[in-house]
Amino acid sequence: MKNKSSRREFIKNSAIIGAGLTMLPKFTYGITKAYKKETLKVALIGVGLRGTNHLNNLLQRDDVLIQSICDIDPIRIQIALDIIKKSKQPKPSIYGKDDLDYRNLLDLKEIDAVIIATPWLWHTRMAKDAMLAGKYTGVEVSAANTMEECWDLVNTHESTGSHLMILENVNYRRDIMAVLNMVKQDVFGELVHFRCGYQHDLRFVKLNDGKSAYGKGVEFGENGISESKWRTQHSVSRNADVYPTHGVGPIAVMCDINRGNRFSSITSNATKSIGLHNYIVKNGGEDHPNAKIKFKQGDVITSTIETTNGETIIVTHDCNLPRPYSLGFRVQGSKGLWEVDGNRIYVEGVSEPHRWDKSEEWLQKYDHPLWKKYGDYAVDAGHGGMDFFVLHAFVESAKQNIAPPLDVYDAAAWSAITPLSELSIENNGEPQNFPDFTRGMWIRRKPYNWIKETY
Ligand SMILES: NC(=O)c1ccc[n+]([C@@H]2O[C@H](COP(=O)([O-])OP(=O)(O)OC[C@H]3O[C@@H](n4cnc5c(N)ncnc54)[C@H](O)[C@@H]3O)[C@@H](O)[C@H]2O)c1
Repeated sequence: MKNKSSRREFIKNSAIIGAGLTMLPKFTYGITKAYKKETLKVALIGVGLRGTNHLNNLLQRDDVLIQSICDIDPIRIQIALDIIKKSKQPKPSIYGKDDLDYRNLLDLKEIDAVIIATPWLWHTRMAKDAMLAGKYTGVEVSAANTMEECWDLVNTHESTGSHLMILENVNYRRDIMAVLNMVKQDVFGELVHFRCGYQHDLRFVKLNDGKSAYGKGVEFGENGISESKWRTQHSVSRNADVYPTHGVGPIAVMCDINRGNRFSSITSNATKSIGLHNYIVKNGGEDHPNAKIKFKQGDVITSTIETTNGETIIVTHDCNLPRPYSLGFRVQGSKGLWEVDGNRIYVEGVSEPHRWDKSEEWLQKYDHPLWKKYGDYAVDAGHGGMDFFVLHAFVESAKQNIAPPLDVYDAAAWSAITPLSELSIENNGEPQNFPDFTRGMWIRRKPYNWIKETY
């Protein structure tokens, strides 16, 4: 493992060389001019757990200056300031005196780019304001909660020309990128079917003791801390797949959604809801006030999406029951398939007939050029390294003010799964149509060139 300064130098040199070789994608109406900045001045809105992770990764780079930070929680501001001080970067300006103070931050002319890592209900509002202020905008997942918010993001991008990237890190996971490489090299043939989802036991995240994020306890809302403060309320009030993008983001890229293909419709069904209630009773007792809460969200929500190219995608949301983590990926085509559970691949004519291969050899053979190049450097970045790559793509795109790999149309189409699944569940699994957020452009838009070693 290289030391920190050689890591910085490596990233800087590679990025400069890479930028010269890359064709600049022009996906959107974007009317602002592309430019090239040596140093990107970044502001972070929300420096909770995720924002702090982004902060740590940005401080590893020589081409980023943390200009400002904003958080309504002074404790989080202090943690961020301590980290910045250690890194020897100058002290940033600070915002967060109230919920809307981020708007004063956005008034700062010197800020080039903004990263939003706040609770979900703030994402679209903040992203919209950031685009209106002319900032290159990165927003955490999901980007939007309602159909209106999905359109707001698209319309604001189109009217301002400001770019928005949805910061979906799972798209940059090593196995995902290797499988994407296999898809692009036609190893699986014509694509037919996918499975994916967010299958993560979050009971100890949604409920805690109000003192530490993963502390034992059964509190949420005002009495909780970190995600239990805001995330859990979505399970109380919505029966929907509220977190679809970790699963569907990678699949959408593999099947060229918004670039020659499109989500056309969705049907969703929800099971009963017992997981969070049982957890509260087990850990807080039957008499705990939260034992009376009725959670609306079914424990397992299953959606089937149809695409205009004739594929189906089964998306699962499963966060309230005991289970080991898995995003449950399956990518299946006319020649074979990959399944992440079981870690196995079958390719007709290469694998022994009707027998699975272990996926390791395949994944190594098709290791993505980005991972080959940056893998050693990325490994400490968080979530196995993928957090480095998503920020790398953001920073490199923002420095040039060009459309990012995961853009506003992706943000809208992926996030729309939440309101559409809710509507389908409410109507006994009735199919719901996706709007065409690209307004017909998906037919002509070319896929992003993913198989390269720049970003
Ligand atoms: N991509 C990933 O792997 C990943 C992982 C974790 C979280 N996330 C996403 O990141 C986002 C943040 O999650 P988190 O775990 O950091 O939550 P968190 O609760 O730890 O942090 C959110 C922060 O936003 C601050 N905040 C709230 N309202 C604000 C406002 N009006 N102005 C300024 N600051 C405000 C809070 O004080 C808090 O510090 C969520 O959207 C979550 O889904 C993504």
